[in-house]
Amino acid sequence: QDVEGKVAFITGGSSGIGRGIGLAFARAGMTVVISGRRQEHVDETLKEFADAGLSADAVLLDVTDRDAVERAAEETERRHGRVDVLVNNAGIGLTGPVMKATPADWDWLIDVNIKGVGHGIQAFVPRMRAHGQGGHVVNTASMAALMPIVAGLYSMTKAAVVALSEALAIELAPEGIGVSAYCPGPVHSNIAGAVANRPQQYGESGYTPPPAEFLERAKTQPYMSYVEAGERVLDGVRRNDLFILTHPEFKAGVQDRFDTTLAAFPDEPINEERAAAIPFLTA
Ligand code: NAI
Repeated sequence: QDVEGKVAFITGGSSGIGRGIGLAFARAGMTVVISGRRQEHVDETLKEFADAGLSADAVLLDVTDRDAVERAAEETERRHGRVDVLVNNAGIGLTGPVMKATPADWDWLIDVNIKGVGHGIQAFVPRMRAHGQGGHVVNTASMAALMPIVAGLYSMTKAAVVALSEALAIELAPEGIGVSAYCPGPVHSNIAGAVANRPQQYGESGYTPPPAEFLERAKTQPYMSYVEAGERVLDGVRRNDLFILTHPEFKAGVQDRFDTTLAAFPDEPINEERAAAIPFLTA
């Protein structure tokens, strides 16, 4: 689809992948509104836009606050007249063995990575439907959704985002609203520092924050740049891709998982009578 002149709202747009998406969108002639949680990250991002000769609007927003997300959607429409593209990108990376997670770890991950996406959809999609000119929703999941062995509860939240995106894509297609599940592999960002910035209300974590050397080392790894990660999203929106994938390194692992899934079906003929009665198959 043609993106020029469209208005996009990007959660977690003040850092890492979200910043990259904002830069790619702005370069493509879109009006970009980024939301971030920390003022210093927002300021740094706006400076990067300005240095590149681009501009963006910015709001401070915690995606776990449903009312605040609703207010941000209202404000975006008030300032820019409409909203066409929503990127539910804000997320936290808390990884480690499932059995080490405290109840607070479960809450934080689900609140941000799953319910935060829901708040975005509930606040923004009705506005796209109302103007009737279609639109697009990108939900940032992760390769960890398609290869859930790697990251415990984080994978669980990202698999939920993929399932939600698939359902929503079918539901909104008749209205010309596309939906993409974005599943990148490793990208340069501040995600490894998320644990250190955990909001106080979530209490004790069962995971130890990574040491400062690890965070520094992550910056020098040959990961994808956030700029490139953002450009991949722009391409995916233009093509209306359901899955936006970035790292072919993971293809063999995903293949293996799907082969294992398919091999688990019982090797017996389909019961035609039963099949005809299953609503999902006949719809
Ligand atoms: P990042 O930490 O640089 O950016 C995440 C953004 O989300 C930050 O702006 C942060 O302030 C924001 N955020 C966190 N909690 C929030 C809340 N409650 N309300 C509003 N904003 C909140 O990390 P990154 O890597 O750019 O993460 C973006 C998305 O990409 C996340 O959903 C992450 O799970 C996903 N992802 C990242 C990968 C990577 O290698 N960096 C790989 C696959 C997926």
